[in-house]
Amino acid sequence: MTEDRDPRTLSRRAVLGAAGAGAAGAALFPGTALADPGVTLWRQPGPAGAPDVHGVHLQFGADASREVVVSWSTPESVARPRVLFGRPGGEFGREVAADTVTYRDAASGTEVVIHHARLDQLRPDTEYGYAALHEGTTPIPGFFRTAPRGRAPFTFTSFGDQGTPTMGKLSASGAWVNDNLGSPAGADTVTGIERIAPLFHLVNGDLCYANISTDRIRTWSDWFLNNSRSTRFRPWMPAAGNHENELGNGPIGYGAYQSYFAVPSNNGDSETLGLWYAFTAGSVRVISLNNDDVCYQDGGNSYVRGYSGGAQKRWLERELATARADENVDWVVVVMHQVVISTADRFNGADRGIREEWVPLFDAYGVDLVVCGHEHHYERSHPIRGASPTDTLTPVPVATDLSTVDTSKGTVHMVIGGGGTSAPSNALFFEPAACRVITGVGPVGPNGKRPPVYVQESAPWSAFRDKEHPYGFAAFEVDPGTHAGGPTTMTVTYYAVAGPFGTLTPVDRFTLVRPRRDGGR
Ligand SMILES: [Fe+2]
Ligand SMILES: [Fe+2]
Repeated sequence: MTEDRDPRTLSRRAVLGAAGAGAAGAALFPGTALADPGVTLWRQPGPAGAPDVHGVHLQFGADASREVVVSWSTPESVARPRVLFGRPGGEFGREVAADTVTYRDAASGTEVVIHHARLDQLRPDTEYGYAALHEGTTPIPGFFRTAPRGRAPFTFTSFGDQGTPTMGKLSASGAWVNDNLGSPAGADTVTGIERIAPLFHLVNGDLCYANISTDRIRTWSDWFLNNSRSTRFRPWMPAAGNHENELGNGPIGYGAYQSYFAVPSNNGDSETLGLWYAFTAGSVRVISLNNDDVCYQDGGNSYVRGYSGGAQKRWLERELATARADENVDWVVVVMHQVVISTADRFNGADRGIREEWVPLFDAYGVDLVVCGHEHHYERSHPIRGASPTDTLTPVPVATDLSTVDTSKGTVHMVIGGGGTSAPSNALFFEPAACRVITGVGPVGPNGKRPPVYVQESAPWSAFRDKEHPYGFAAFEVDPGTHAGGPTTMTVTYYAVAGPFGTLTPVDRFTLVRPRRDGGR
């Protein structure tokens, strides 16, 4: 019978077999091979069928116009994980086998199996349809668009600090509660992103806070489940935050993060695989950094400041030099987690470690834009260049126009940390604007953490703060401009998000402008 060769049919029958429902099964599927079940049933991956294709998510390769990785996870090994793909309207003409990686969560002892199928030699600015599958399960379809090559318009979005909208802990009172700093807003923001339907989304760290949750595996699973209605249509390109640092997972603590994501290689060692990377979309070079390497703050499960031994900084300088020598790259955008600027009181604050290590490089190579999270609100700086000779290395604003910013004069920093947590910081702003900067840490205290040493500074660099809305994201519309050496712009809109349908309210809108790099400048 032909239906016996259909893996979906077979797995349904396997379920019936496992329930011992021979007679009932025969009634449900009259005339099927249930009268002769033996071989067919025992060929199935498990008595209850194969696990689902869980949490499908996409990543761009280093060249976003040519390469996309399709990823999903399973709780056990599966047979022939693969992706079929092709152009819409055509057939699934190509098949790519997935590479499988695993990690064993140190807290639970549970192993997670993650499959990454690398689709390459794609056409730029082209839509593809695909199906992710393994033996015995229902294929999960999706589609994506590759980035344009060269100077072309497109839109990307950004937020950090999301958590999950689900409940993972049974409290002492017998009620289920969220235990990853999440809230229902962490679902609303995803719906909001889909209203914009960007080419890609930057995730500015603190993805799901698995490191503080009861069940890390459930928390990651819930995060991908909540987000896959977006992540299977457009890459979410992450930066690792302090809450991706999970005690016992991998040599530095990012083993889960490094397993779930297949981001472009940084040509480093396996220990730091995926913790920093870069990709190009159109005329934009995006650089993702992991700031725990340089931050003073003791914010993860373990204190890992200096873990790369300077390797990340050396890579960053090479990467910036290469980007700025490339006349096809107009914009250099950095996505990272902890911040150079924040005007929130009684929250994390800014970290002098980033001002010491990264900001001089951002200045030297003219980084246009930095998006980050860690602070759970929205604010942005004026363009900054250089530092005052203060204890905190206070950034110096080079212009104060709120609506149009020339980023060839200074770097704009945006804090976009309202991705959905239950602990927003938009009601904590200093009045007038000021900044608490972590300039060091004290000895390890009774809670096992190094307490931060704060120095407060005035904030002449502060440009805009959203006190009103706890949740939202920013959208960046890249306009390449019309002629060599002429202006190119990014129109930036910060949207507040509210409600289950992701209702958007524009809160802040401004234009970044800089000269194109194909004019000999
Ligand atoms: Fe956070
Ligand atoms: Fe954080």
